[in-house]
Amino acid sequence: MIMPAHPKTWDFVHVRRAGAQARRLPARMSCRMSGRPPTVHAPVRRGQGEGGTIPRTERAAADAARGAIMGRMAEHTQLIDAINIRTAIRAYDEDPIEDDTVRQLRMTLDPINLLADLNLQLILDRPEVFAEANASGHLANARHFIGVVGPKDDDEAMERAGFYAERVVLATTLRGLGTLWVAGSWDRELAARACSVPKGRELYLGIVIGHPANHLDRLATPYGELAERARTHRTTKTYERFTAPMGDEAREQAPAWFRAGVEAAMKAPSAMNRQPVLFDYDPATGSARATLDPQAGDERWGLNDLGIAKLHFQIGAGQGSWTWGDGGTFTHR
Ligand SMILES: Cc1cc2nc3c(=O)[nH]c(=O)nc-3n(C[C@H](O)[C@H](O)[C@H](O)COP(=O)(O)O)c2cc1C
Repeated sequence: MIMPAHPKTWDFVHVRRAGAQARRLPARMSCRMSGRPPTVHAPVRRGQGEGGTIPRTERAAADAARGAIMGRMAEHTQLIDAINIRTAIRAYDEDPIEDDTVRQLRMTLDPINLLADLNLQLILDRPEVFAEANASGHLANARHFIGVVGPKDDDEAMERAGFYAERVVLATTLRGLGTLWVAGSWDRELAARACSVPKGRELYLGIVIGHPANHLDRLATPYGELAERARTHRTTKTYERFTAPMGDEAREQAPAWFRAGVEAAMKAPSAMNRQPVLFDYDPATGSARATLDPQAGDERWGLNDLGIAKLHFQIGAGQGSWTWGDGGTFTHR
């Protein structure tokens, strides 16, 4: 589905997609959703809630299929691969996230929290946080999320949150899971209660995670097809718009790494798809700069989007690092 560049509300953009995905549920899922009781049940695993009611045989088959397919995907293991196939996922399967994946994700979060002074946390089985969005059809089966918690009223921390939490999004994508940043499509109060929010800190945002709807089909889809879907599933501002502070001549003279960085940033998620970040290259210093576009009109989540876009740029450019802030510079190494 082609999405308008500047959607007005989350519902406007995505409710039809969630409906379309729900219609494509495979037979076994449709049967379960029709209310027919499953026959053999695996024991409900601690912390996995209703996910544990999936019949044992189905789960074993799904685990085996996932294992086989993930083995075939082994050649696409880089963060740039994740950038190329990631899209916002709003409809999920009921299958629980495997224990091993949960463990790995938590192991990823710990050092990031230490490094970035954040409190990213994986919260499992809280469908009530997404009850309204799930009921309206905007989301389907959203129940697990990463709570993005950080210091209160701290602009730089908000940017760091975007940068580092997106790193988690990309790592999660490489494990075959789907993700969705959420600012509005949840009950923020319930989410905050499910998280640990120390004094002086606040819940900025959430990231829904889980197996995308029809995930076995998706895992079996060739990488090139997923990349093509991601490339065409929504509109994006052009390269020229992303580099609006530069003239045509400067664009032509900029090194290949700059263009690759911007192209990776064009694939980044942003609140309401506003894509509020501009890039330019300074030939005098050989560095790039990222600024918030005053015309994008994204005051609330702009800094988070800036952090996300900087991470994508850095991965696309290959090597190098950013200084924080609106107007921060990137040095390529
Ligand atoms: C900070 C932030 C908040 C977002 N909040 C929501 C939300 O509440 N509901 C929703 O459906 N999508 C939300 N999104 C997802 C964006 O709509 C989506 O990333 C954007 O439309 C681009 O699409 P893509 O992620 O598929 O590339 C959010 C994204 C970001 C980065």
